Amino acid sequence: MTAPVLTLDGPSGSGKGTISIRLAELLGWHYLDSGALYRLIGLLAFRNAISLEDEEAIATLAAGMKVEFTGANVILEGRAVGDEIRTEQIGNMASRVAALPKVRNSLLGWQRRTAQPPGLVADGRDMGTVVFPSAECKIFLTASAQARAERRFNQLRLKGFDVTIRQLFEEISERDRRDAERKTSPLTPAKDALIIDATELSIEQVEQEVLSHLKTSGIAAPG
Ligand code: DC
Repeated sequence: MTAPVLTLDGPSGSGKGTISIRLAELLGWHYLDSGALYRLIGLLAFRNAISLEDEEAIATLAAGMKVEFTGANVILEGRAVGDEIRTEQIGNMASRVAALPKVRNSLLGWQRRTAQPPGLVADGRDMGTVVFPSAECKIFLTASAQARAERRFNQLRLKGFDVTIRQLFEEISERDRRDAERKTSPLTPAKDALIIDATELSIEQVEQEVLSHLKTSGIAAPG
């Protein structure tokens, strides 16, 4: 059965996670947090002491991973993962395993099967370019590296992590570079994506822009 798909791609800290969760709730659609998949693989590699250079072993790990999403909660092997995958350390490991083509390939089928009725909000880097190239509505959300570092700083401080804006700015810039320069599925807007620069916009303003683009794309959105 086919279901409408809204893809939200963009760099870390652009606010796409927050917007995607809000929109999935508002629309009553499923939510795919594809970044969480790469974070989980980073976590599992770490727990099992698998080298991040060992593409074959990590792809096998990815293919065998039993994961589900209930709303915004990530469940791994029947247990909620919580904030363990939200640290910068795991974020950096995620970015490294995400550069491995076999790992990305092993997640493709699983991700595509999440497009179930009544619809899917897919959050990531390659949702509109590779995973759901024929999605009905595509958004590429970006913001300046400084604005994204500040947003991440506020999010992580709220969760009790000890970080500085300068450290986050450097990590974000390094991760952007790695995500944009990798050969497989680099971070780049789909040709038919609407690009929204959120540097000067509130979450509510971005949400309104996405909703009006959904309507333009022929999908009935509330409000
Ligand atoms: O969105 P996030 O910060 O949770 O993503 C973690 C890492 O995973 C990020 O460095 C890029 C990578 N990623 C990816 O390559 N493709 C996706 N569809 C989602 C995330």
